Amino acid sequence: MEEKFNQLDAKIEEAKLGGGEKRIESQHSKGKLTARERIHFLLDEGSFQEMGMLVSHRSTNFGLDKTKFLGDGVVTGYGNINGRLVYVFSQDFTVLGGSLAEAHAEKICKVMDMAMKNGAPVIGLNDSGGARIQEGVVSLGGYADIFYKNTQASGVVPQLSAIMGPCAGGAVYSPALTDFIMMVENTSYMFVTGPNVVKTVTHEEVSSEDLGGASAHSTKSGVTHLTYENEIECINGLKDMLSYMPQNCEEDAPSVPYEMGDENRDGLNTIIPDNPNQPYDIKEVIEQTVDTDSFYEIHKDYAENIVVGFARLAGKSIGVVANQPAFLAGVLDIKSSQKGARFVRFCDSFNIPLLVLEDVPGFLPGTDQEWNAIITNGAKLLYAFCEATVPRITVITRKAYGGAYDVMNSKHIGADMNFAWPSAEIAVMGAKGAAEIIFKKEIKEASNPEEKWKEKEAEYAEMFANPYNAAARGYVDAVIKPAETREKLIAAFKMLENKVDTLPKKKHGNIPL
Ligand code: HXC
Repeated sequence: MEEKFNQLDAKIEEAKLGGGEKRIESQHSKGKLTARERIHFLLDEGSFQEMGMLVSHRSTNFGLDKTKFLGDGVVTGYGNINGRLVYVFSQDFTVLGGSLAEAHAEKICKVMDMAMKNGAPVIGLNDSGGARIQEGVVSLGGYADIFYKNTQASGVVPQLSAIMGPCAGGAVYSPALTDFIMMVENTSYMFVTGPNVVKTVTHEEVSSEDLGGASAHSTKSGVTHLTYENEIECINGLKDMLSYMPQNCEEDAPSVPYEMGDENRDGLNTIIPDNPNQPYDIKEVIEQTVDTDSFYEIHKDYAENIVVGFARLAGKSIGVVANQPAFLAGVLDIKSSQKGARFVRFCDSFNIPLLVLEDVPGFLPGTDQEWNAIITNGAKLLYAFCEATVPRITVITRKAYGGAYDVMNSKHIGADMNFAWPSAEIAVMGAKGAAEIIFKKEIKEASNPEEKWKEKEAEYAEMFANPYNAAARGYVDAVIKPAETREKLIAAFKMLENKVDTLPKKKHGNIPL
């Protein structure tokens, strides 16, 4: 028997070495951890249970019969993060460049199937040279199998992707199908076609980093939701993010213990400037409204005119969507609509209540926006709010103009509670523009047109630049002082805790993609 035990021990040792000491050294020299080290830092100590350690490839093409690696370039299994079950796959770049082929893909699909059956998140740590070239179409088939599983799992369990090395070609579509992507600065990149192909086709010269590094995807494309300076920070980010999410779509979002105290926040009373056209930072409002240090921002450097992220209110997980007056005056445009819509849909999929802070002057005008389909893209955010059945609360802090008033979680599209601060202005458009249109004749015929315009602007502002017309109709449930906001929200979300809402029977809706 001892001999058999020794045989097993030898196989385990072999598997743990992946592509061997030299390649592990090379991995470290690039500032990267190995697949197993990443899992070690990600999971609670001693909780990792590996599956498929002894799986190896079956191909004999191009010398593959002579190089067998136990595990086939991906470490898979399950374990705990802060005591909660997660499934994980971690690609091993030291084995054939972490390239994906038949057996490697089967291992990933297996943990995804188990995650769906047992209702726990899947975390993918990606570091791969892409489709294993020696295995040909079998590798492509493996990718397609994973894409199919990603789509099946979407909305069933949270799926998080960390990119910790190369991720190129069609391989990018697996992370893209998951809920959140994180990237590590300077050591990871994602692109459909690399710099060489780009040069051949478009004659552009661009480095891998500029084309598809963390910075490009966090600021320009919005493909990645978060970026980190190094792998350890990225792994910690994964853990933090998971703490706001339920295990699956059947469970409620988690909460942490909270003792109610004085929930008044006087600082909120002085944030809105006297001049309604002056910007202020909506993140200050968020910070003072939610539990201390609980705001976890997503997509921080992309479409900054809308702010989205997770937070806790009295210990309970919520999703926050807020217009940002400090960037482009908080206007809604194509990118901010997409960013907001995707986040709203994630929260709704996983029973995370939504808080909307509204200060929006309208949609961004211009040919660029119209020709690039602000109509279709703005409709995404509208659709996402309309179909969300989680508890939804809006606080109008200042401007709520035009169609954007309707879109930003208005009462009319199913919000449960709508509050407005006394500084709220809820109208079809700003007073200046409105006066110009409806008093055009009077202004033109006046002895002093400029003065007349100002007079009419003031008249319109007096009538509409306030929350009271909306409150009189019940479109706003209560006008509250800013300092009371936190207390009111805690009470309202508690009141909505057992909300049951369903959509009409359908196969699925047709969101304007
Ligand atoms: C098989 C691969 C591989 C691959 C890398 N390796 N990529 N083996 N299939 N796709 C192997 C290398 O031969 C090498 O083996 C080891 O991994 C490390 O690779 P290096 O090139 O030495 O590393 P580095 O210099 O860091 O460069 C990494 C790299 C480069 C940029 C990823 O290896 C590369 O360009 N690889 C090919 C990428 C590619 O074209 N993939 C196919 C994309 S198409 P040894 O034995 O020397 O350690 C695709 C389609 C997916 O993925 C479609 C899905 C629908």
